[in-house]
Amino acid sequence: MLRRLHHEQPESFAFTPENQSWAEAQITKYPEGRQASAVIPLLWRAQEQEGWLSRPAIEHVAGMLGMDFIRALEVATFYFMYQLQPVGKVAHFQICGTTSCMICGAEDLIGVCRTKIAPNPHELSADGKFSWEEVECLGACANAPMAQIGKDYYEDLTAESFEKLIDDMAAGKVPVPGPQNGRYASEPASGLTSLKDFDSGRTQYNASVQRAVDLGDTLKRIDGTEVPLLAPWRDHGANHQPASPAVKLNESPQQVGAKAQRPAPGADAKADETGISKREAQAATKAKPKVKPAAKPTQKAASVAPAEEQGQGSKPKMMDAPREAGADDLKMIKGIGPKLEQLLHRLGVFHFDQVAKWSDEEVLWVDQNLEGFKGRVTRDDWVEQAKLLAEGKETEFSSKVKKGGVY
Ligand code: FES
Repeated sequence: MLRRLHHEQPESFAFTPENQSWAEAQITKYPEGRQASAVIPLLWRAQEQEGWLSRPAIEHVAGMLGMDFIRALEVATFYFMYQLQPVGKVAHFQICGTTSCMICGAEDLIGVCRTKIAPNPHELSADGKFSWEEVECLGACANAPMAQIGKDYYEDLTAESFEKLIDDMAAGKVPVPGPQNGRYASEPASGLTSLKDFDSGRTQYNASVQRAVDLGDTLKRIDGTEVPLLAPWRDHGANHQPASPAVKLNESPQQVGAKAQRPAPGADAKADETGISKREAQAATKAKPKVKPAAKPTQKAASVAPAEEQGQGSKPKMMDAPREAGADDLKMIKGIGPKLEQLLHRLGVFHFDQVAKWSDEEVLWVDQNLEGFKGRVTRDDWVEQAKLLAEGKETEFSSKVKKGGVY
């Protein structure tokens, strides 16, 4: 298949501030002169933000990494995961057409795509909301047939359930991803026959679906606010290799400038035996991505109150704004994602020690007032987690997050 840039291109591209910070943090993973190694994740984030890769987006990424445009274009055109033409505003369906899915009905799903979306892959539907393509095995063969949208899998589909999915999405709904036939994960359709202990303590949905629901990032274009910006590798002492001039998000322009003065490899010489040229090494050294700090938690409570304060339980003491040092990162509590954290801020909850002091009656009140997330306080035992975090200790979840094992 010929992969070329689309004939219509936007004027320009810019990452959102949060995505820009994220991209700059990714660059710090690589040692001096090797910033081009970040090309794949940066192109991917540009696509997650816009839905597809335009020429200005590829140029922007190449510029950040000190690469020639053609080098970044080679990567974008080589990998089929990059969409080089506009995709549906609501969703781009990737239908698995490989063996398991094919024998379980993938061709029916493709038939639905042809009639409901567009006759050919990579064509936009008449209303511009959808597009589709057939792809190779996506590794969910036990839940065949299936379709991927962005990060999420919709599994155990039939032509009917797939049509309904498209109709719901067109109507602005966000159907819960995962199995669409009532299965929890990929257990037998008739239910578990062994290891039934698994049934105790499970979350409402299987792990990946639960994560998608908690983050609320299904169908959404990624703008960088979905999860906190974490870059734990920057603190790994002796193992840490200093990277490009703009390696640290909190460096001043003067510090970045001083790094750019470092001597470059000798003229006409290879920078090293791996073959990087002098020009590439200099370009990498001169690359000065804009340095912006990571997004900080809101310092002042929004004045918006929850739509409806429920009457059960007793309302805990809330705060109008976080203390001077700023709000705690409530996302260190397992079960709290960015959306839930915003909701808690609106309610007046900013600190671990607030949560740690909630009585049973107060837990009941909060559980009732978490629009769309009711029952989460009890389900994930926030109070016990918050007690440890308020004392400066770690929970299993918070240490995993800090080590980069989550997100
Ligand atoms: S064959 Fe479709 S996911 Fe593997």
